[in-house]
This record gives sequence, structure tokens and C-alpha cells, in this order.
Amino acid sequence: MSTETPHQPNHDAHAVAMRVERRWAIFAGGLILLLVCMMIYIGVHTAMMPPSRVETIDPTKLQMSGEFVETNLGSAVEKDGSVTVRFIAQQYSFTPQCLLVPADTPLTLRTTSADVVHGLEVMETNINTMIEPGYVSTLNTVFPKPGEHLMPCHEYCGYGHQTMWAHVKVIDKATFFEAARHSRRLSCVSR
Ligand code: CUA
Repeated sequence: MSTETPHQPNHDAHAVAMRVERRWAIFAGGLILLLVCMMIYIGVHTAMMPPSRVETIDPTKLQMSGEFVETNLGSAVEKDGSVTVRFIAQQYSFTPQCLLVPADTPLTLRTTSADVVHGLEVMETNINTMIEPGYVSTLNTVFPKPGEHLMPCHEYCGYGHQTMWAHVKVIDKATFFEAARHSRRLSCVSR
């Protein structure tokens, strides 16, 4: 307590505290209002929404039946000319370890985890999502030009997390579709 105002310290301190608290309350309220306005603006303006649809899958049966059996993993050409890329994340690798995709083509990535939560990131792109056991993560994207990208797991998933990464190889569209005529599922893992 200050020794300079010994006669009415309680009253002054109370008034100061009230003033400071009111100022902080206004500041915090304003901050919340600003963030809510930003959310509404981004939601309406760029149509960024939480996923409207949740797809579930039994992580214990991935390898036995359904979409994520080993023979169905890799890149597949759809009837509309787009390409669906299916892969699995597990401690501590992706299957396949190298995704082969065409440039300048609409892609749908479909992935899920066989064990714990992993992270999907493709370097030099905005592809970034979680891969959770029990759920299918779906992403639509286009790689504008051929090239190679690293695809590290970006979510800590155990002691081998830092060794968990794959590659994405983007090749010329014509070359890809030619190769797809001879193979039902494509990847760049050498067999
Ligand atoms: Cu998988 Cu970190």
C-alpha cells in the first residue's frame, strides 16, 4: 500500500481497480466481437466452413475389406477424368510411400489412419489436415505443374514420428493417363 495517501487509500484503490477492470472488459469484449466478425466474414466471403459431412470407417478392418485394402491404394482414374488418391497412415509410414499424381488435374485425396492420429502435409502446397483413426479425411486439390514434394507427418504420433514421411511425385498429365491405361492403381513405389 502507498504511504503517500494514508487517509483514504481504500476508496482510491477501489476506484482505480474499477476503472482498470472496466477498461480490460471493454478490450476483451471488443476482441471477441472482432474475432466473431472475422469468422462471419471468412465463412461468408471465402466459404470456409467446418466439414458438413463426416465419414467414418473401422480402423481395425482397413486391410481386410473395403476401400482401403492394399490393392485399392494409390491413384485411380475416375469416369469424369479426375483422379482419386487413396493412402493409409500408420506408425510410422504412409502406404504407398510415394504418391504418383498427374499435374493440372482435379485430385481427391482420401486417407485414414490404422492406429493413432497423424498429420498430413504436402510441402509447397496448402494441403494440410489431420488423419484420424475411425474417420476418412478427404481433400480436393490440383497440382499446377510437375515436381516432387515431401509429405511429412506433422502430428506427433509416437517415438518414430520424425521418421514418418512420404513423397508426392507430380508428373505430366499425358504420361500419367498413358500409364493409367495399363494399371488400375498407380503409385511411384518401385515393386
Ligand atoms: Cu505420424 Cu507423426
